[in-house]
Amino acid sequence: MATPGLQMPSEFSNSNLELLISEEQIQSRIKELGAQIARDYASRNPLLIGVLKGACLFMSDLMRAIDIHLGIEFMAISSYGMSTRTSGEVRILKDLGVPVEGRDILVVEDIVDTGLTLSYLLANLKSRGAASVKLVALLDKAERREREVPIDYLGFQIPDNFVVGYGLDFAERYRNLPFIAVLKNPE
Ligand code: IMP
Ligand code: MG
Repeated sequence: MATPGLQMPSEFSNSNLELLISEEQIQSRIKELGAQIARDYASRNPLLIGVLKGACLFMSDLMRAIDIHLGIEFMAISSYGMSTRTSGEVRILKDLGVPVEGRDILVVEDIVDTGLTLSYLLANLKSRGAASVKLVALLDKAERREREVPIDYLGFQIPDNFVVGYGLDFAERYRNLPFIAVLKNPE
């Protein structure tokens, strides 16, 4: 029972957050992306591969907006230290549970920043003999790109600010926000 007069602290209205993309904007853009993907992949049984953890909310909303026969998988990847990050070397922490040979793959990612993680992952999936590998990204910070990554389906282009929410974190915090916000002061 809540104590009368004692306000619950709200994570979602934390004063360190500045709204960038509202829940309504996210959901309506996802409906459009889902409809477009359904048209493009009708009768191809695509495999959606979500990149953990950031893409978890995007993945769960996006797949409900794609009204065709499809499958889902998850991968977890992490960059090595800063020195190897620039070389684009990443580590697979959790791999797929199924072979991708001959499959039409749609990688689902939260944000493309430098592009190092995605350029490695897309090449890795192609080398396993996928029939096609395309990318769905919710956010694109194009200004920061170091490696060219073609985004086949994009939610929103954003400026070069550190954002959190809707799966994206700062030190594992804020993934649960239903909207995207700029973190004003990384503490
Ligand atoms: P990239 O290899 O530099 O493109 O890094 C992509 C990954 O870095 C994303 O999947 C995110 O996990 C993380 N990232 C990049 N920018 C942001 C941000 O603004 N907020 C939170 N995470 C970010
Ligand atoms: Mg990520």
